[in-house]
Amino acid sequence: MKKQQVLAVALAASFVVVVVSGNRVRGQVIRGQERPLLTKQLMKGLVAPQCGALKKELDAQPADDEAWERVALCAALLNEASHTLMADGRCPDETWAVAASQTLREGTAAVLAAAEAQNLDDAVAGFKSLTQACGACHQAHKN
Ligand code: HEC
Repeated sequence: MKKQQVLAVALAASFVVVVVSGNRVRGQVIRGQERPLLTKQLMKGLVAPQCGALKKELDAQPADDEAWERVALCAALLNEASHTLMADGRCPDETWAVAASQTLREGTAAVLAAAEAQNLDDAVAGFKSLTQACGACHQAHKN
């Protein structure tokens, strides 16, 4: 093979590698490997509504057992979402993993503990820390 031919083959091969790995990672971000749930649907149907409802509950300053139960419900569902985000081969990288399995999971656990203790300051602090996960992951993975 001539030098140019070798170069052309090498270039074509690297192009294929980039396209294939790019699709794989992009596919992971949009959905998992086996289950039908799209990340978009998880966000629109569970994460965003529960995050909004949790904020509303905390802004209203939960004052009785029922209000704290609503706080706990939102936090528990968001905590569950942190597991779904890591399941089914959806997680593409370290940024995603930290946002989901640390920031979101620990923040929601803090809100749950605060709801159990009916401590508003701790619940607000937990909420603030869990919402750091949204921006961190979106900055890297949301168009
Ligand atoms: C670990 C990653 C990750 C975390 C954490 C995360 N998101 Fe997302 N979110 C995404 C990705 C990826 C998309 C884009 C999905 C797509 O368009 O295919 C998205 C999209 C969205 C959308 C747009 C949905 C639509 O209808 O197109 C909303 C709203 C949203 N996220 C809210 C939130 C909120 C609120 C939080 C924090 C409580 C959060 N997300 C945390 C990854 C994440």
